[in-house]
Amino acid sequence: MSGQMHVRDSYRPPFHVENSEETILRFPFPFPEDTYMYSMNVEPHVRGGPVEAMSHTFDVDEHYIGECAEKARILEEDPKRCMVLPHMRDAEWDFLELGMDSLSSDYPEHFTLKKEGNDWRWENHLLNISQSFVFGDEATLPQAPFEYMARQMQGDFTLHDQRENDLWMDGGMVTSQADWSLKFDMGMSFRQWHAPVPKASEMGIFDRGLRFLLMLQYGRPVRRLNWTMTINPRLDTSPENYMIWGEDRASVTSENVAEKVHLRVELQTLYRLPRSNAILFAIRCYLLPIKDIMTVPKWRKRLHRVLRDLDPTLASYKGLDLYRSTVVEFLRPYDDGAPLSVGI
Ligand code: HEM
Repeated sequence: MSGQMHVRDSYRPPFHVENSEETILRFPFPFPEDTYMYSMNVEPHVRGGPVEAMSHTFDVDEHYIGECAEKARILEEDPKRCMVLPHMRDAEWDFLELGMDSLSSDYPEHFTLKKEGNDWRWENHLLNISQSFVFGDEATLPQAPFEYMARQMQGDFTLHDQRENDLWMDGGMVTSQADWSLKFDMGMSFRQWHAPVPKASEMGIFDRGLRFLLMLQYGRPVRRLNWTMTINPRLDTSPENYMIWGEDRASVTSENVAEKVHLRVELQTLYRLPRSNAILFAIRCYLLPIKDIMTVPKWRKRLHRVLRDLDPTLASYKGLDLYRSTVVEFLRPYDDGAPLSVGI
């Protein structure tokens, strides 16, 4: 990661989140084609890939400090945003190890990890944290291992036990979600927590997705992109706080659309964990306002076409009904209709 860390980001009113040119250009724009429909869009999470946001195990960008502070605030207001069932203890340590190993090797200027047997020392220079602890001994950390690590990483994380040929939502820290609730989904199976999604089940996507994940191998993580839209740079669009953010959807006008409406992209990565055989699902959320998308001609044209032709059932599920036409009308003059190459 190059560039300056932002320390004044605010993901709640008064909103204040600026994206540098570098951050705009590393945004994982989710539309390789002019139309969008659900698909089995899963690929190996290898280094490289179409944009820089995908080039590390866990992506750290200029919003790291602001996002960690927002996460801490949400957890203080609602500690149940982090829950892990007792049988997931091994998975908690697996996650901590994966987090510390990958952050310290991908970003040695920001994170350092020293190991002498089970005596570990972790330093997070961005959050001013230094911690010596014994790997495997929870009493030597200020929080349980999953919570300790997830608080120091951008994005949401869920932990899934694998049994009875299914995956179960048996833990997580979820503070920046697109309108779903960990509290509600805890203990559910793969098909149960996906039940609100339209069309994908009939298309066979969840059967194939689950079969694929049950065979996921250690050391071979995979990734997929998901997207929706959010009004204002608000990370926490949870059902728990719907009364705070729901009405924002009615506030979009042709004057404020470029500032207010954000394309919300989730870079989702999945890992088999070594001791527990659990699966880690990491959801890294990127919010880019229409005004920043406008700076890349291909993106603004493609977003116009995707939104204009989006299946109404998907649009409603994603909560776009109150402002989709305003965004399409705003983008229309900037789309000359000329063919665009496949890819982002
Ligand atoms: C939506 C979790 C893997 C496809 C969702 C939702 C959750 C979720 C919580 C929101 C459901 C709601 O409205 O309440 C997970 C977890 C996964 C996983 C924890 C892995 C352990 C997958 C895979 C696929 C997939 C492998 C496809 C291959 C989708 C789709 C949606 C969805 C298409 C609808 C998204 C939208 O339109 O915004 N997922 N998912 N998921 N998931 Fe998954």
